[in-house]
Amino acid sequence: MEGIRVRSESKEDLRAIDVVNLSAFEGEQEAKLVAELRKLPDYSTDFSLVAEFNGRLVGHLMLTPGSLTFNGEHTPVLILAPMSVVPSQSHRGIGTELVGAAIELGTEKGFAAIFATGQPDYYARLGFEAAVKRDIQCNLPVPEDRVMMIELDGGALAKGGIVNYSAPFLSLY
Ligand SMILES: CC(C)(COP(=O)(O)OP(=O)(O)OC[C@H]1O[C@@H](n2cnc3c(N)ncnc32)[C@H](O)[C@@H]1OP(=O)(O)O)[C@@H](O)C(=O)NCCC(=O)NCCS
Repeated sequence: MEGIRVRSESKEDLRAIDVVNLSAFEGEQEAKLVAELRKLPDYSTDFSLVAEFNGRLVGHLMLTPGSLTFNGEHTPVLILAPMSVVPSQSHRGIGTELVGAAIELGTEKGFAAIFATGQPDYYARLGFEAAVKRDIQCNLPVPEDRVMMIELDGGALAKGGIVNYSAPFLSLY
């Protein structure tokens, strides 16, 4: 989309990412979550995506590793959270661009799926489906219809199981 550029975060972006999360969520919880997710041993800045609109950082989406456990086997998947766009720039397609870039990156890196526990309607527009339809549950205490997923090309997705969110997510509940 015209004027929107999505790229991975750099060191200089950390303060601006905080501002985006604080303004989009109107609270500190998600900014703190991002700080905790950055401490994960397998965290990579490649998977923290920022969106610039006309050169200004206005959106952020974080992907971190998770696993799908089925019959004792673990399939690497990505967890999409949090995602935010500053309120003054919403409804321009910035969130859509960020999710599109996340899908492209996850596919390129060979992950089997991306999971998100947000507004089901929002993710459904972007090609996600309810995980429960594939017999996939989640280790977070959220209603099962809020767990959304998209299967990625090239990754072998288990036929059901439990998607495991990392410790920083568990401590939010
Ligand atoms: C959700 C969010 C990231 C969307 O960003 P965005 O750049 O406005 O998204 P897009 O422009 O690509 O898409 C907007 C469309 O998404 C839909 N949408 C936006 N927020 C939605 C929500 N909470 N529930 C369902 N649909 C939603 C609307 O249909 C909207 O369409 P419209 O512009 O025709 O009204 C942004 O509104 C935000 O940061 N919200 C607060 C933080 C948040 O809730 N993040 C988690 C998302 S689950």
